[in-house]
Amino acid sequence: MLTGGGDCPGLNAVIRAVVRDGIDEFGDQLIGFRDGWRGVLEGSYIDLDIEATRGILPRGGTILGSSRTNPYKRDDGARCVRETLAQLGVEALIAIGGEDTLGVANKLHQEGVNVIGVPKTIDNDLGATDVTFGFDTALQIATDAIDRLHTTAESHNRILVVEVMGRSAGWIALHSGIAGGADVILIPEIPFDIDEVCRLIERRHARGRYFSIVVAAEGATPKAGTMEVLTGAVDEFGHARLGGIGTRLEQEIEKRTGYETRATVLGHVQRGGTPTAFDRVLATRLGLAAIRAAHDNAWGMMTSLQGNEIKLVALADAVAEVRRVPTEEYEQLGVLFG
Ligand code: F6P
Repeated sequence: MLTGGGDCPGLNAVIRAVVRDGIDEFGDQLIGFRDGWRGVLEGSYIDLDIEATRGILPRGGTILGSSRTNPYKRDDGARCVRETLAQLGVEALIAIGGEDTLGVANKLHQEGVNVIGVPKTIDNDLGATDVTFGFDTALQIATDAIDRLHTTAESHNRILVVEVMGRSAGWIALHSGIAGGADVILIPEIPFDIDEVCRLIERRHARGRYFSIVVAAEGATPKAGTMEVLTGAVDEFGHARLGGIGTRLEQEIEKRTGYETRATVLGHVQRGGTPTAFDRVLATRLGLAAIRAAHDNAWGMMTSLQGNEIKLVALADAVAEVRRVPTEEYEQLGVLFG
């Protein structure tokens, strides 16, 4: 097993389910590679038995560690992976990750490696599954933060901008913003017009509400040519390190409206800590399905949630494209803005 990409509440619940079922039902011998694909490239792993996974169900993070190492960034990466698996006698690899980790898993599967995928990401942006574990926890953390910011925004008559995670999909921003009663929600899927943002805030003032909450996904971008933004370094999968739109909005809204504006960047708080009950149960079900899929030789498949059922889908379908917020969903909920 390995856990790759950004960590996510519920990863340990998957690991625990795979280990318990693998050992008790099938008599498997299990190992966990350290730090995602890095552990496979370097042959670094720990033995996983029932004792090693005791007490981890409610723990956030991953006992295996994680990284954004991409084997395909190295000329000999795929060969190294195959060599490690052969040397250790690994018959099946369960990769728990988001689009990047599972994209690598899919390529390895096409090269003949026996891989099963388990979807995780707080961003909820993976295709072929209704929802990913970690999202519910992140959503609750962001909603709690918005509730808290609401009372202080009101006390000080301030505009508070809350930057949440989501670099190419705005699920956390949209759902936490709606749950928290935000006045403006900005998501990566729909470039925003800063004039419109300020108009909504000014309309509230005209109606006697002297504070506003603006929720922005870290990947939210202004319409071309309307506002300058910052760009950051890129990781091994080519993703920019984001974080900065909240501060830019703070400056721009205050400059344009004259109202005192402050930004809060929730950052990694959204990924940390104990998973919600929903995420623990979903992660456990996905883990159980993964070990069973491995025993059915269902290589190249990913466990997924479809309605209330756990089903296997092709990894290729899951990573084909990012699952973004549909424009209609944003527009329907947008009637509540301002
Ligand atoms: O992929 C999950 C995620 O939390 C994104 O929402 C965010 O953009 C990214 O990871 C941050 O990654 P890192 O912790 O590597 O900076």
